[in-house]
Amino acid sequence: MSKTALCLKVPKNQGEKTIALVGKLGLLDKTLRIHREETTLCIPLIQQPKEIEYRELKNQVNELQITVSAFVEKMSPPKTVMQVLENHLPPHLLAVLPQALDVIGDIAIVEIPPELEPYQNLIGEAILKTHKNVKTVLAKASAITGTYRTREYIHIAGENKTRTIHREFGCQYYVDVAKAYFSPRLSHEHDRVASLVKSGETVVDLFAGVGPFSVLIGKKNQSVKVYAVDLNPDAVELLAMNVRVNRVDNRVFPMLGDARQFAATKLKGLADRVIMNLPEKALDFTDAACQTIKPQGGSVHFYAFIRSPDSIDSLKERCSDAVEQNSRKIITFQYEKSIRETAPYESQVVLDAVIK
Ligand SMILES: C[S@@+](CC[C@H](N)C(=O)[O-])C[C@H]1O[C@@H](n2cnc3c(N)ncnc32)[C@H](O)[C@@H]1O
Repeated sequence: MSKTALCLKVPKNQGEKTIALVGKLGLLDKTLRIHREETTLCIPLIQQPKEIEYRELKNQVNELQITVSAFVEKMSPPKTVMQVLENHLPPHLLAVLPQALDVIGDIAIVEIPPELEPYQNLIGEAILKTHKNVKTVLAKASAITGTYRTREYIHIAGENKTRTIHREFGCQYYVDVAKAYFSPRLSHEHDRVASLVKSGETVVDLFAGVGPFSVLIGKKNQSVKVYAVDLNPDAVELLAMNVRVNRVDNRVFPMLGDARQFAATKLKGLADRVIMNLPEKALDFTDAACQTIKPQGGSVHFYAFIRSPDSIDSLKERCSDAVEQNSRKIITFQYEKSIRETAPYESQVVLDAVIK
């Protein structure tokens, strides 16, 4: 597309310094392309230079001429999904466009409200246009459900796949979003817990998934042992791959099976630290955590969901009671935090408990 605009014509050999000066004076029209004629350069201006500006230009460039010329408009790529779709959706639907997007590797995951479902492919294409690193767009098609904590997806744009490689804190993770749980929203938590682990510790990750806690702990510490348990065979297959590709296979050990069974057998009494990231059921597995922690004590990271009017204080009480029912005691809660909102009036929280 071309547009007529004010044009400053200067000899080509004076072009570079003139463009710099026009830019400095704030006169350059950056939406239009500078072009050449035989011996001159045509620079688009946003307005007629003021007298003082004209004098400054004249001081630097002896031969100049201000005229009108046709310029090619620069095509700037759309920056937001809203910008791409503004001429394709009615305003009341633009208002409900999803604001949040989870990007796992090169897969974007979006929640499409029911009224936008007829436009989901259009929205997917808009996400591809505005996110250069995204190759696939999936729409959530169910809640996270079942023992394995997975959800269904509908493919709405780009390559039809659910498997990707996600990078986080210097580690790479093979992830299959349809087969095993993974959330990029927990990345800060993975790093926070990994940073607490000291040399020589034995860590048990009771619900390890594809390994974002376990692998990072192994990566940050040469002299740890991490037992990473999960019941989902697909998760453990990906976990084993992640252990290999991140070269922590001499200290992170994937274990396929039930956390409670391992706690009562192979993992009994050997942990300095236990990670319990199964927020729907964290307190149900308090017995497993208490069995796994060393007799002299250790730390447990409990994750749970709380729904208003429930509070972190009341969760702490329930947690202390559950630990006491398993003949152990919480000496202190070293840390407590609401990590993220998971639904209206619901959030995921973490409690770091020191247990003896
Ligand atoms: C919320 S995911 C957490 C995964 C991982 N910690 C993360 O941050 O990505 C919970 C995991 O617990 C596993 N799980 C559920 N019940 C289990 C059990 N009884 N024993 C071991 N793993 C279990 C699920 O398969 C799932 O991978």
